[in-house]
Amino acid sequence: MEIIFATNNANKVAEIQAAIGESLKVIPLKDAGILIDIPEPHDTLEANATEKSTVIHRLTGKNCFSEDTGLEITALNGAPGVKSARYAGEDRSFDANIDLVLQQMQGKADRSARFRTVISLIWDDREYQFEGICEGKILEQRSGSNGFGYDPVFVPDGGETSFANMTMEQKNEFSHRKKAVQQLIEFLSQLQ
Ligand code: IMP
Repeated sequence: MEIIFATNNANKVAEIQAAIGESLKVIPLKDAGILIDIPEPHDTLEANATEKSTVIHRLTGKNCFSEDTGLEITALNGAPGVKSARYAGEDRSFDANIDLVLQQMQGKADRSARFRTVISLIWDDREYQFEGICEGKILEQRSGSNGFGYDPVFVPDGGETSFANMTMEQKNEFSHRKKAVQQLIEFLSQLQ
């Protein structure tokens, strides 16, 4: 079975395919022949996830899912949150985003943060949402070079090092995305 994943982020595709296993093949947008950058105009992860899956469903008429993820830092009142991708500007630079977070977190005693993922699935013309949360802490400086986004500055609770020092399999033991995907898998397995 195949399902279109409304993303062009190769890291997300790899993480989700590893989490799902071989029973369901995840097709990223470019492999489905869709060459668009879907806008994320809303102020919640939920609304952006719905927008992405709805746009792709309208274009293809096929079952599909999207996900939207944000890093929510307690001491920054939940920022960067829904603005995580463009926190330091429109060019969506991972490095510039991390620099801004580290600068804003200077001297903050409370380093707690969480990643939150919302998946929007469109299956047989109906929408379903699933959420995954990973609690953790923001480091004072970068550590590691694996993964993407804020991985070098985020240590999950129960982990000993940043996501960027972990393999994909190790990250998936803690990951927000994996938790949301597990609910998606359970939902899909009940349909069969
Ligand atoms: P998106 O809008 O869901 O693509 O993600 C927003 C931003 O959050 C991305 O550009 C990354 O900077 C960050 N992000 C999302 N997922 C992760 C993750 O698993 N690790 C680190 N950063 C992430």
